[in-house]
Amino acid sequence: MSTLITNIAELMTQDLEHRVLKDAAVVIEGERISWIGAAADAPAADDAVDAGGRAMLPGWVDSHTHLLFAGDRTAEFEARMAGESYSAGGIAVTMNATRDTSDFDLTRLALGRVAEAVSQGTTYIETKTGYGLDVEHEARSARIASTIADQVTFLGAHLVPAGQDPDAYTNLVCGPMLAAVRPYVQWADVFCENGAFDAEQSRRVLLACRDAGLGLRVHGNQLGEGPGVQLAVELEAASVDHVNYLADKDVDALAGTWGGWDAATGTGRRGTVATCLPACDLSTRQPLAPARELLDAGVQVALASNCNPGTSYTSSMAFCVTTAVLQMRLSVHEAVRAATYGGALALHKDKGNDADGERAVGSITVGHRADLHLLNAPSATHLAYRPGMPLTYAVWRAGGRAR
Ligand code: NIG
Repeated sequence: MSTLITNIAELMTQDLEHRVLKDAAVVIEGERISWIGAAADAPAADDAVDAGGRAMLPGWVDSHTHLLFAGDRTAEFEARMAGESYSAGGIAVTMNATRDTSDFDLTRLALGRVAEAVSQGTTYIETKTGYGLDVEHEARSARIASTIADQVTFLGAHLVPAGQDPDAYTNLVCGPMLAAVRPYVQWADVFCENGAFDAEQSRRVLLACRDAGLGLRVHGNQLGEGPGVQLAVELEAASVDHVNYLADKDVDALAGTWGGWDAATGTGRRGTVATCLPACDLSTRQPLAPARELLDAGVQVALASNCNPGTSYTSSMAFCVTTAVLQMRLSVHEAVRAATYGGALALHKDKGNDADGERAVGSITVGHRADLHLLNAPSATHLAYRPGMPLTYAVWRAGGRAR
């Protein structure tokens, strides 16, 4: 079954050639993109959809979320808006509520959040454990997460639960907890920050997880300058996320990881992606991550929602893109790229086509997964020009109409 989507006013491919085509068309065949080009040259297909002069982008790739949770932290948010600072301690409130929630309800809540994200154009999503924080509940979160998200990250090292010795808890994370979650996860992460895990504990967790075959990510430099970025670079993590407080040496170290990468062909040794989380920065009143400086230094940047109940209760990637343009000085093309191809790079899903069956996401390229986002606007510029407007008109996920 093939579908021709034609009369696309602007097609922002986010492919390696950075093409933006006018009066374009796309053909989907099954779950893959089989043709892109000028509408006038489009081949016939079994079915046709008139895009009505709207703009099309790749579906958003949200590479950082925490969707497995129950409970509410409105009071904490209100206190923050009244002047209190964010601290990692709030994670315990969500841990208690999550542990008290049945599998059925936890699944239902997480599925509802995925549905919200998809309805706004997200077509590929990562999520994390991290609100279970004992062997039983981390394993349960990992198992449920593997049924609702495309990729799952183990974040047992999110907070040391009250009353527990930090080193003993770190040993638990590296041993029995890791073994229990291992069948369900692809990645491991650690909250490397004052009030969470120090550099030595973080290194221990990451090394144990790497030995178990997991890829690595780090929550780093969110609340102050710290060792997170350097640790991520040292251990060749796929991404370091938050990156609000960076010293020059951190930017240089991240840029250095991309020295062997050929951005024009998408080949070579992938470095560590800097994942910026602007909705979180605003909700915690932290300085926005220096995405402009990172891009200028040659770092590959991703934008993600960080949807979670404590610091960023939104899955709106459009909001992140809007903020990145209006406040972080990215161009629309750069911001959309970071929210699509950048997320795919961070999740190692930028490669794969007909030959290997592992279809890449995050760009509109022949052979890649047909994840498409049609805006109710003639150009992607409207994402920043019309902030806050509900611009998602239609969504295709793996070739199927998702909205
Ligand atoms: O990415 N920083 C650590 N983890 C989450 C927040 C978790 C929470 O407060 O519930 C984040 O912002």
